[in-house]
Amino acid sequence: MNDLAGKHIVLGLSGGIACYKAAELCRALIKEGATVQVVMTEAAEQFITPVTMQALSGRPVYGSQWDSREPNNMPHINLSREADAILIAPCSADFMAKLLHGRADDLLSLMCLARPIDRVALLLAPAMNREMWAHPATQRNMAQLADDGATILGVGSGYQACGETGDGRMLEPPELLEDIVALFQPKVLAGKQVLVTAGPTFEAIDPVRGITNLSSGKMGFAIARAAREAGATVTLVAGPVSLPTPRGISRIDVKSAQQMHDAVLPLAAVADVFVATAAVADWRPLNATDQKIKKDGSGKTPTLAFAENPDILATVAQSERARAGALFCVGFAAESHDLLANAQAKRVRKGVPLLVGNIGPATFGAEDNVLLLVDAQGTQDLPRASKVSLARQLVAQIARRAGA
Ligand code: C5P
Repeated sequence: MNDLAGKHIVLGLSGGIACYKAAELCRALIKEGATVQVVMTEAAEQFITPVTMQALSGRPVYGSQWDSREPNNMPHINLSREADAILIAPCSADFMAKLLHGRADDLLSLMCLARPIDRVALLLAPAMNREMWAHPATQRNMAQLADDGATILGVGSGYQACGETGDGRMLEPPELLEDIVALFQPKVLAGKQVLVTAGPTFEAIDPVRGITNLSSGKMGFAIARAAREAGATVTLVAGPVSLPTPRGISRIDVKSAQQMHDAVLPLAAVADVFVATAAVADWRPLNATDQKIKKDGSGKTPTLAFAENPDILATVAQSERARAGALFCVGFAAESHDLLANAQAKRVRKGVPLLVGNIGPATFGAEDNVLLLVDAQGTQDLPRASKVSLARQLVAQIARRAGA
């Protein structure tokens, strides 16, 4: 993908052992299509050399505010005017304190102060020992920096280079990449609550067996990610899948259709948008046994009887809030044939304003897909693209229709 094509990122490094992760972050940004200008403090140069960062970014690294390579000798002005965003990773406790006071005695802090505040976002990826992170001074500085317009990207938790364990690790490069990609997406769902179901369900036959389907959950996870990128608060109710949770999303794991139903209903009561991507089992084995069904050698096979599962989407779409237009419901149809006719019929049967059709067997587990949007006005094709790209297009369509 090229989610950062045409974007110019200034990657600032302040002093901290997490500087070693900045090398990988730099590569990841470039791989995604960005151009990267690295600026380092003197302390950062104790941890990683400008040679490494120059080789990875393909540009000379800046470190001094007196850099005579700039014709006007004003690198703080030139570098900040070129940038689409400034990302400080790692951002040390000391550098935060400096930013907070508007100090400007080295190039990186000077450039942050000189940035056009309305146009160039400043993102901070803190990295420090857990005691430094928890200190009231750091927490106070962070709150004030956020108030002053910086975006604090949060920290990870776990083993720290100092040997202690706790909060304060710098986020991993893929997490930082996801946040910077999100920064540039249009905020068409700002302030909205979005609820997404994803993945298959698992219907138990006995404690060791069950019935499931081939849904991978990738489309639903991509929609959750795209909705969060668009500024929504997102809850993802996921069936049994082994996908990582997209950044900034609250996830509830369930197994059966009944569990998914029970998780979704209270959340749908407060959501603005519900996207039912999950491939929910239509039926569950009646009377699942507590003990494993044993083969007795007689050649007799067990007979399975089924009960119908609740239709989560149809139930939510019939709720008062959905019918009053306060909750916008989107259904999915994973078909094997006759996509258009099946999708149109399903939209009416489920009672939803928008239904998205796709060919299930062709897309289960794949990274890309083709979508057919069906609403009361007609149909629209979203041609083959990555699931994340399709999810962003779908989110834009939802935002238009949901009046966001
Ligand atoms: O009827 P069918 O399973 O083909 O409908 C698919 C759509 O309905 C999907 O949006 C799916 O998430 C939703 N659904 C549901 N609860 C069910 C069955 C399907 O929410 N029990």
